[in-house]
Amino acid sequence: MATKFTPLKDHDTPIKVLFTGYLCTVGIGYFFALLQILFTHGMADGQFGLSIDDIVYSYYGNRSGTVLENQLNGAMKANASAEERFDIIEWVRKGADEDDYEKDGIKKIIEERCVMCHNESASIPNFQDFAKLKALTSEDEGATFSSLTRVSHIHLFGISFIFMFVGLIFSFAETTTTEYKCIAIGMPYAFLIADILSWWLTKIHPMFAWLVIFAGMGMGVSFIFMWATSILEMWLYKPVFETGLGTKYLALRDNPNASLFKQLKPLLITGIELAKKGFACAYDVCLHQLWPKLKALLDKNKKS
Ligand code: HEC
Repeated sequence: MATKFTPLKDHDTPIKVLFTGYLCTVGIGYFFALLQILFTHGMADGQFGLSIDDIVYSYYGNRSGTVLENQLNGAMKANASAEERFDIIEWVRKGADEDDYEKDGIKKIIEERCVMCHNESASIPNFQDFAKLKALTSEDEGATFSSLTRVSHIHLFGISFIFMFVGLIFSFAETTTTEYKCIAIGMPYAFLIADILSWWLTKIHPMFAWLVIFAGMGMGVSFIFMWATSILEMWLYKPVFETGLGTKYLALRDNPNASLFKQLKPLLITGIELAKKGFACAYDVCLHQLWPKLKALLDKNKKS
């Protein structure tokens, strides 16, 4: 196939190093972003791991309880003992009265367990100020409009830049047809907008929580596809596309008799199998190795 651009494999080595450095860095960034999601949203329902409930609680809120109560049963669970959490929740349910605050010993618990993070020098609610704490004893309506506005514009500006460069590098790929390239490059932008939109929609109605997950996965899939194709073409073109598994893919791509579905089917099946294995493996590692270690570390920090 004649190309009007320099294919990835033919770029000078310094350029390849530059591209690879960028791709690896954003790859690691993506991994940390996922970890961050797991720790903030993932803990919203009190259990490790991301679920639809987590998304609903994070954006729409858990309207059967107050913010303070839900946080104590969710992401802030590890910061106080069961009795301490019970005492705080009981105080909230009794009306979060200022007079009872000191009398019931709630102030002491908050000062011992929470103020090391929730103080005036942090960007999170300052619990040294009673009014700030009191504000969190109202119904949990999830993310506030101001926090959604803030995170929305940060994501739109930041992520569009990431996909600008990932897409630009991938546009030099030669093993993907122009048609599919357009899809892979355009998809993250469509999903990014859908993702941001879905937060706002979920804030209005919990039904849209599935859209948050769907859009996030769509972005992830296009990212992985562009990332892997670029890296493979730059460094492993021969073993993959001239002698390895990639030759099958190229043969299918160039076979005019095969229908679109027939062309895609083996790829799709391999893709799903790989994704399933990868996901199971990653989940296993997270749950059985990383999580206990992190938890032990957190517990140790808390004690000291
Ligand atoms: C290790 C630091 C740390 C400790 C200790 C801690 N928190 Fe937090 N807390 C955070 C951070 C960071 C956030 C913001 C998380 C986010 O934005 O997702 C937060 C958020 C919250 C929120 C949600 C605030 C909002 O505006 O929605 C509540 C409620 C809360 N914490 C309660 C507590 C209580 C009660 C304690 C004590 C039992 C406590 N936290 C102890 C770090 C801490």
